[in-house]
Amino acid sequence: MIPSRHMSRRAPLVFIMAAGLGTRMKSDLPKVLHRVAGRPMIHWVVTAARAAGAGRVVAILGHKADDVKAALDASFGAGAVDVALQTEQRGTGHAVQCALPAVAEEADDQVVVILTGDAPLLASERIAELVTACEASPAGMALLSTVPPRPMPYGRLVRDAGGKLERIVEHSDATEAQRRLPDTNAGFYAIKLGHLRKDLQALRADNAKGELYLTDLVAHAAARGGATAIDAPFSEVAGINDRVDLAAVETAARRRINEAWMRAGVTMVDPATTYIDADVGPLGKDVWLAANVCLRGRTALGDGVRIDLGSVLTDVQVGEHVHIKPHSVLTETQLGQRVEVGPFTHCRPGSRIDEGARLGNFVETKQTHLMAGAKANHLAYLGDASIGAKANIGAGTITCNYDGFRKHRTTIEAGAFIGSDSQLVAPVTVGRDAFVAAGTTVTKDVPRGALALTRVKQVNVDEWADRFRESNAVHKKDGH
Ligand code: UD1
Ligand code: MG
Repeated sequence: MIPSRHMSRRAPLVFIMAAGLGTRMKSDLPKVLHRVAGRPMIHWVVTAARAAGAGRVVAILGHKADDVKAALDASFGAGAVDVALQTEQRGTGHAVQCALPAVAEEADDQVVVILTGDAPLLASERIAELVTACEASPAGMALLSTVPPRPMPYGRLVRDAGGKLERIVEHSDATEAQRRLPDTNAGFYAIKLGHLRKDLQALRADNAKGELYLTDLVAHAAARGGATAIDAPFSEVAGINDRVDLAAVETAARRRINEAWMRAGVTMVDPATTYIDADVGPLGKDVWLAANVCLRGRTALGDGVRIDLGSVLTDVQVGEHVHIKPHSVLTETQLGQRVEVGPFTHCRPGSRIDEGARLGNFVETKQTHLMAGAKANHLAYLGDASIGAKANIGAGTITCNYDGFRKHRTTIEAGAFIGSDSQLVAPVTVGRDAFVAAGTTVTKDVPRGALALTRVKQVNVDEWADRFRESNAVHKKDGH
């Protein structure tokens, strides 16, 4: 998606709390690496922070920290996201304490945004609002509140008679009356670093969970005039705790992605069954997507591309006005302008199909370059091959690229014609404009303009079939 940029006067620091165990996911994978629309949860949060104009981003990691760091490095570049370790999870306040050494050089009036790694749908606009509210607040603190549609074990916002935010009471410490308070803590904050440094030192674990609660900072802000609470829609701030939450967030993320692309000029016949990963794009004007189309990874589509029912594209670059017919599967492939593919075509990694070329049903390609206007319309395996412009590959052609030990290349030069049911035993070259007769097994190079033919000469034995039937009739019990 195209991120919108919000400039604040000074780029805020961002902490992302992601050290928790994520027990309820019941998974070997750290919670924040579970994917939402193809992108690990924590990457959504980093991306939103950056789109909001974040300066340094510090991820607070604990459980499987090495795995999470490796994933962050792979996506954003080594060291682009700083890491602070929280080896023992002693609460959200303790998590933030662990990040302070990483920002020891920063000034006290620097704004710090504190996010959680398991709430991927937070919009960058909301982060920018938090920063602005923090800067405007005499208490130097702002947070997001939300009214959940069903009872949630969230912290409750407690206000005084004048409406000033007094403190947050955690669900497990709250009285029945407090649990009925409508506004809850969504878990996202912006605070001046000086207050954070001072107030974190004063935290005590004298509560139901025996943890250091970050939320206790709100009571300190009350003494300075009160933190500002900004109401955010629950759908945007909802965190993921188990796989039911994960599925709900996935559906919401896909809806958001699809609506953005439809507004940018993409037609979706059935948006509810159109699956577009977060990192897909750009998609050109007048792209048309049928139901059950899946665009994954770094796929990009040019103007006027049509993709019919049930096709799955992963890391595919598609030129303008390409037509992909139903049930085609393409991976790590490049398609030039006006290429036609499918139905039932399989392009495996390293396929490059140039302008106007055509691949039909049950054609499989791998590490193969089909040049402009070449055609393979039916039932073929083209692996490790280079196929020249306007070459014609007949039905049932197979490049025999593997000898059991190594892969070898087949070269078919421009304008060559490969007759149906031929095998090309690589390494081998068919010269320009040459013909390979149907049913030929090509084992040596075919010179330019030549005909290669390995068929056994045909013999017709007159009336053989009639005689054969008569002589065998006695053996057939049913008389037919
Ligand atoms: C927290 C808030 C609560 C709020 C709720 C919203 C506190 C004390 N409470 O509660 O007011 O309504 O979020 O979802 O902050 N984490 C660490 N290290 C720790 C503990 C937690 O990194 O030692 C991380 C977790 O991985 C998670 C985030 O902090 O990403 C929130 O922690 P969690 O335990 O889910 O807090 P809640 O009890 O949900
Ligand atoms: Mg939580």
